This record gives sequence, structure tokens and C-alpha cells, in this order.
Amino acid sequence: MDIHGEAWGDQLKELYAVHSIKERSRTMQEYDGEIMGGAPSDVPPFIAERTDGANSITRILQYMGRTSLDGAVHWADMPGGRGHALRQAAAQLEGQLDLQTTNVDLFEWPPITKGLHPHQKTHLKGLDYTNPRYAPRYVAADVGTVKLEQAADLITMVYGLQYLHDPLHSIANAYNQLKPDGLLLIAGTMPDMYYDSGPIRASSPFDDFLSELDRKRIAYATARFLPVSAYPINRLAISRIGDTVMHLNAAVESVRVNNLDNKDTTYEFGSVSLELQ
Ligand SMILES: C[S@@+](CC[C@H](N)C(=O)[O-])C[C@H]1O[C@@H](n2cnc3c(N)ncnc32)[C@H](O)[C@@H]1O
Repeated sequence: MDIHGEAWGDQLKELYAVHSIKERSRTMQEYDGEIMGGAPSDVPPFIAERTDGANSITRILQYMGRTSLDGAVHWADMPGGRGHALRQAAAQLEGQLDLQTTNVDLFEWPPITKGLHPHQKTHLKGLDYTNPRYAPRYVAADVGTVKLEQAADLITMVYGLQYLHDPLHSIANAYNQLKPDGLLLIAGTMPDMYYDSGPIRASSPFDDFLSELDRKRIAYATARFLPVSAYPINRLAISRIGDTVMHLNAAVESVRVNNLDNKDTTYEFGSVSLELQ
């Protein structure tokens, strides 16, 4: 898809303005915190198997390197923002791991050294992360529909899902871009937070989606922002079953964008079901 072509038109200009003021610079430690929640007990068993029980993306990548047939590991971050986490991993794991990295984002935000949060400076200290040798392969595409040229062992989606017009299909699309048995880790706002639940429907489309994962025996895990049922789910991990392809049957019936600066989407779906092929 030519994202700079007609299909997006002025929307791209608006999205550029919106995303210019957002955090696009997260580091590996921040990703670990967002995805794993910091506590080893939060790591679901199927992730723990890939990490020797540790709760970090670095350990996941290292595990994948040990278990991949050719020793190479492909991590795609969608959307990757400035690609700091990818660059950090490439710099820190150089010589240890044959790591390929891909950043899918509508815009190619450059890495920065100034304007980082103090903790980000600490995480990146001493690393030559802006060096082009650590740059991920940049793919200018919509995360919701992107087709990766090369399937990924690991796909991360950190604070990306809430901007997409069809978050459930975007999850299914990401699943289909994984290598067999690959791992999808999502963190941030989940679809049910931006679902206008009315009095007629007890569950959200996101609940229905999770029920469908259960029905198809797809290994997944969720965690809440706080471990209290009143808090929303903000982490989802899914493991691809072999090379199965996920087909989601769920039509988006309406999409709205809120009137705040963050432009998060609210949507309505009809019934949600999925098939695996
Ligand atoms: C809040 S940032 C998160 C970036 C990165 N994951 C991080 O945590 O630092 C959101 C990113 O999504 C990108 N983006 C928004 N809509 C997108 C879309 N439909 N497809 C691809 N990228 C998109 C923006 O350009 C921005 O870099």
C-alpha cells in the first residue's frame, strides 16, 4: 500500500500532527514494563517457556536465537515509533545473536538523543544506538494491514492498537505475520476500552474475541492495568499455533475518533467469530 497516496490523503497530515506530540521513544526496559508488568509472576507459562522464566524481551529473543533453525531471529515492532527499543536490542545483542529488526510505522521518526526522559537516558547510556548499523528495516505501512516480507519470530505492539480503525482485524493480521509458533505481545490500550458498550450487550467485542481464542485453543494470556477486575486489560500475548492462519469474521459497523488530542478510536462490531486454517 502506498500510504502517501490517495487512500490516506489529508488524514496522514493530521496523523502526523497528532503523533508528533506523543511518546515514540520507548526503550527495551519500558517495553518490558509495559508488556510484562514487571513481576515474574505475571509472565504466562507459554511466555515463560520462551524466556526461561524471565520477564524480558531480551531473554525472549535470546531463547528464540537458541531454538531457531538457523540461529536468526526477526523482531518486528508495529508501530515502532523512533525504533529506540529495536536499536537498543541490536546494539546490546550484537555479536550474541543474529537479530533482524523491522519497524512498521506510518512515519519514519528519527532516533533522538536530546529530549529523552532521564530514565530513557539511563537505559540508552553508553550505547551507540543512533548508529545506522543498528537501524531497523523501516516499513512505511498501516500496522492494521501490513504484510511483512519476512515472517517474524516476535511481534510487539506497544501503544499502537488504539489508533487503528479495526483493532481486532489488526491483531489477526499480526498473528498471520508471525513465523510458525511465533509470539505476539501487545501492550497499551486494548479494544474494549474504546468500545461504546450499550445496555444491550453484556460483553464487548474484545471479550468475544478472547472467547474465540479460547474456542480455537489458541494460547493467549491477558493482564490488567492493575490486578483488579474493575481495571481494564492492557496486555495481551498470543502464541501462533504452527502456521495456522487466523480469519476473523467481524465487521466494523462504525468507527469514531474522539475529540481529544490523543485521537483514540471508538468502534462498534457486529458478532465476532474466527476460523483457523
Ligand atoms: C504512541 S506511539 C508508540 C510508538 C512505540 N511503540 C513506542 O511505544 O515508543 C504510536 C505510533 O503509532 C504510529 N501509528 C499511528 N497509526 C498508525 C498506523 N495506522 N499504522 C502504523 N503506525 C501508526 C505513529 O506514527 C506513532 O509512531
